[in-house]
Amino acid sequence: MGNRAEEDYNFVFKVVLIGESGVGKTNLLSRFTRNEFSHDSRTTIGVEFSTRTVMLGTAAIKAQIWDTAGLERYRAITSALCPPPLPPRYYRGAVGALLVFDLTKHQTYAVVERWLKELYDHAEATIVVMLVGNKSDLSQAREVPTDEARMFAENNGLLFLETSALDSTNVELAFETVLKEIF
Ligand code: GTP
Repeated sequence: MGNRAEEDYNFVFKVVLIGESGVGKTNLLSRFTRNEFSHDSRTTIGVEFSTRTVMLGTAAIKAQIWDTAGLERYRAITSALCPPPLPPRYYRGAVGALLVFDLTKHQTYAVVERWLKELYDHAEATIVVMLVGNKSDLSQAREVPTDEARMFAENNGLLFLETSALDSTNVELAFETVLKEIF
């Protein structure tokens, strides 16, 4: 799947990133759209989505990927609520979602079901969802077995992959697989 000039595309697919704070959503996005990773990533106020145009066969697909950047202050106000209520515009028109957890923090996996409910409450029923266990580079600190997450995904009709935004493992594949499934 090659890159392509941003202005030259056949379809726009909106994909949202959801999951607990600190699981690596922002870095998955920056890895996929700019091939960048930050060890000290901060909330980017004002930027709501990034795009990358990829080829699927002969079709140029502009992936418009939404991150919760800029919603952190909002989240602080709504404090303990998990998942935090995101504004309806976040989910509106989304055709794909990456539901991300940190495979070194079981707590971020334990709340995946709640995020899934929040997603299905606000998005189209046909939305393509991938469960993503991020930080696979930290295998010595793993708290969520691969098989357990894969089984949960299978039982809930979700795609599943483990990724590392740090060393790039499966990041392209995760986004590509969701885009192909939508297409
Ligand atoms: P919020 O913006 O608070 O929702 O967090 P987020 O989900 O966007 O997480 P973010 O991308 O900001 O990453 C949180 C921390 O985890 C940062 O210190 C990153 O450098 C680190 N991180 C993200 N992805 C990986 C990864 O694949 N491996 C490792 N080792 N660290 C990662």
